[in-house]
Amino acid sequence: MARAFAEITFTPAVLAEQERQGTAGNYARFLSPEAAPADAIGPAEADFIARRDGFFQATVGENGWPYVQFRGGPEGFLKVLDEKTLAYADFRGNRQYMSVGNLRADGRVSLILVDYPNRRRLKVWGEARIVDIEEDPELIAGLHDRSYRAKPERAIVITVAALDWNCPQHLPQRFTLEELEPALAPLRAELERLRAENAELRRDAAAGAG
Ligand SMILES: Cc1cc2nc3c(=O)[nH]c(=O)nc-3n(C[C@H](O)[C@H](O)[C@H](O)COP(=O)(O)O)c2cc1C
Repeated sequence: MARAFAEITFTPAVLAEQERQGTAGNYARFLSPEAAPADAIGPAEADFIARRDGFFQATVGENGWPYVQFRGGPEGFLKVLDEKTLAYADFRGNRQYMSVGNLRADGRVSLILVDYPNRRRLKVWGEARIVDIEEDPELIAGLHDRSYRAKPERAIVITVAALDWNCPQHLPQRFTLEELEPALAPLRAELERLRAENAELRRDAAAGAG
């Protein structure tokens, strides 16, 4: 039971919809004072976040429209600074600055981090702060893996307000090329062995026929 996320997301319209659909009773306990707040990063969340190479980030435009963009990088580029703080180096892209522009006006973000092979996902809500490079070069240096080909333009530092684990329903199992490699390597070796054996058998058969 996670109280903080329900306090953010169970708006009057959401509660009214739960009432209409007959599910309000299932979720009322989320808002009870006894429910765990789930507003800080624990060891399970920290481990999960450290293994991600991307996440979707929603921001809010000044006109109220949500805006979602994917943020990708080397594994673990979204760093846990402490149990209430996440941060990442924000790379140069197409220079439309939609997420950053939104964040200058309203720091609220909603992230979703997905582990496709294990079919797990974590939702995070927070207040983001933009830290420009000139403001804190050391922070950016600590967040950016220099072996990764990207130009960091700023850091985004997020104070976590709520976290919630999602169930795996309808989440497809997907693998990156790197994740598939341990399974593919023995198959490639076996294919090579069988090809060689096949060539040898063909040679023997041709020699026998001759
Ligand atoms: C040269 C270049 C062109 C890009 N064109 C697009 C594009 O047309 N659409 C898009 O969604 N992302 C594009 N990207 C990726 C985005 O720039 C990147 O995801 C960035 O983080 C978007 O930030 P924003 O959505 O907050 O503005 C491009 C990146 C580069 C470097």
